[in-house]
Amino acid sequence: MQTTRRTFIAAATLGSIAPWLPSCASAPRRRPLRAQGEPLRLACIGTANRAWDNINEVRHERIVALCDVDSAYLARAAAEFPQARTFRDFRELLAVEAELDLDGVVVSTPDHTHALATALALQAGLPVYCEKPLTRTVHELAVLRRLWQRHPVPTQMGTQIHAGENYRRVVEAIRAGAIGRVTAADCWQQKSWGDGRLTPGAIAPPTLDWELWQGPAPRQPYIEGVHPANWRRYWAYGSGTLGDMGCHIIDLPFWALDLQQRMRRPIEVFAEGPPVDAVGAPAWLEASWAFEPDAPGADPFVLRWFDGGRMSPFVQEVGAKDRVDYHGRFSVCFHGTEGALFANYGEMLLWPGSRAQAWTPPAPSMPPSIGHHREWLEAIRSGQPNAPLCGLPYATALTELVLLGTVAYRAHAPLRYDPVRMRVLGNDAADALLGDQGAAGWRLPR
Ligand SMILES: NC(=O)c1ccc[n+]([C@@H]2O[C@H](COP(=O)([O-])OP(=O)(O)OC[C@H]3O[C@@H](n4cnc5c(N)ncnc54)[C@H](O)[C@@H]3O)[C@@H](O)[C@H]2O)c1
Repeated sequence: MQTTRRTFIAAATLGSIAPWLPSCASAPRRRPLRAQGEPLRLACIGTANRAWDNINEVRHERIVALCDVDSAYLARAAAEFPQARTFRDFRELLAVEAELDLDGVVVSTPDHTHALATALALQAGLPVYCEKPLTRTVHELAVLRRLWQRHPVPTQMGTQIHAGENYRRVVEAIRAGAIGRVTAADCWQQKSWGDGRLTPGAIAPPTLDWELWQGPAPRQPYIEGVHPANWRRYWAYGSGTLGDMGCHIIDLPFWALDLQQRMRRPIEVFAEGPPVDAVGAPAWLEASWAFEPDAPGADPFVLRWFDGGRMSPFVQEVGAKDRVDYHGRFSVCFHGTEGALFANYGEMLLWPGSRAQAWTPPAPSMPPSIGHHREWLEAIRSGQPNAPLCGLPYATALTELVLLGTVAYRAHAPLRYDPVRMRVLGNDAADALLGDQGAAGWRLPR
C-alpha cells in the first residue's frame, strides 16, 4: 500500500503520543489532518438523480473519485469533474482508497448496495455519508454497527429534513408538553412504490452494467424500467414506500419521543396490505409498532404508518369534521392527552384550535444545523464521529424500525422483536426475513 501524506502523519503522531499502541492494523489508520482551508478529498458512489444532489452539496470540497454502473451518468458527472478518477465498481474504488487519499465517501446508490459500500468504507476507517434507508435489511444494520464500533468515524444518513428548522420546533413543542403526554403518532405518505413485476425478455440499457448494478442481489434478467428509480418496487433492491419515505417521516416522532432509547425492550410490530408478493412491494401498507412503557407509570406508545393512499382513521375523521385536508397537508400527527399536533417538513399545527390558542411555544432551544451535509464534512475536519445528528447510532436504529414494518408485512404475522438481540421472538420464518446472504463476491465484511 502506498504511504500517503496523511497515513504517514497519523502513524507518526500516534507513535509519539501512544507508544503502547501496536503498530498493526488495529491502530486507527485515519485522522482528520487536513489543514484549515484545505478541501476534503471525497469519492461519490452513484452520480445521477439523488446522487447528483449530494454531489452538489459537497462539490466545494474536492471530488477525487466518481463511480457509477451507468456509463452515461458517469460520463456526465466526469465532464463536470475532469480531475476525478472514474470507476464502475465501487469495490475497486474502495480497494484503492489509500492511493486516492480519501477523507470520505458519499453513497447514493439504490438501497441494496448501501450496506456493502458503507461497510467497505468503514472497514477502511473512512467517514461515510449514505442515503436513506441506511440498509435494505436488518442484518446489514448489525454489521454496520459492529464495524462502526471498531472504526467510529463521522457518518451521516441522507435524512436531510432532520437539519431543517421545523423538525426542531416540533421536537421542542412535543417535549414541552404542547399536547400533554404523547401516546401515539400517525405517519403517512401518499406515494406508492409498489407492484414491482418481473418482465421476462427485457434488455438492459446499453449504458448500464446490469451485473454490477445487481451487486449483492440474486441474479436475474433485467427488469424493464427498474433503473433508475423503480428498483424501490422490488424487495431485492428496496423496500417499497415505507422503505423509501419512512426514514424521513418517522424521523420526527423517532427524534421527538427518543424512540432510540425505547428500543431496549421488545416491540410488537404488525402490518397489513394486499396479499404478499415474493417479488414486488405492496401498492399500499399500514404498519404499527407498539412500545412498552419505558418506566414505571409511563405510557405505552404506538407508532402507525399509512401509505399508498391509506389514511389514519383519526386524521380522516377530524379532517371531515373540520373540513380541512389534514391528510394532504401534513405527514405526521402526534396524539396526546391534551390534543394533537400535525406536522410536515415545514410547518406544524396544534389541534384543536382551542389548544393552539392556549399554548405558548417554548423559546427555541435547539441550535440550527449548519446543514446536513456540512454536519458530516465539519465532523470529518474536526474528527468528531458523534457530531452529525443522523450518524450511525441514530441512523441504524431509525432504519431498523422502518424495515421491521416491511418484515412484519412480509411475514404476514404480528411480530415480537427484541432490538437488543436483533431477533424476532418465536417466529423463525419472520426472523429469516431480517437478512439474506449476498451474492458471492458481494458479501459484507464481518
Ligand atoms: N434524501 C432524499 O431526499 C432522497 C431522495 C431520493 C432518493 N434518495 C435515496 O438515494 C438513493 C438513490 O435513489 P435515486 O432515486 O437517485 O436512484 P436512481 O436509481 O435514480 O439513481 C441511482 C444512481 O446510482 C447509480 N448506481 C446504481 N447502482 C450503482 C452501483 N452499484 N455503483 C455505483 N453507482 C450505482 C445509478 O446509475 C444512478 O446514477 C436511494 O437510496 C434513495 O432512497 C434520497
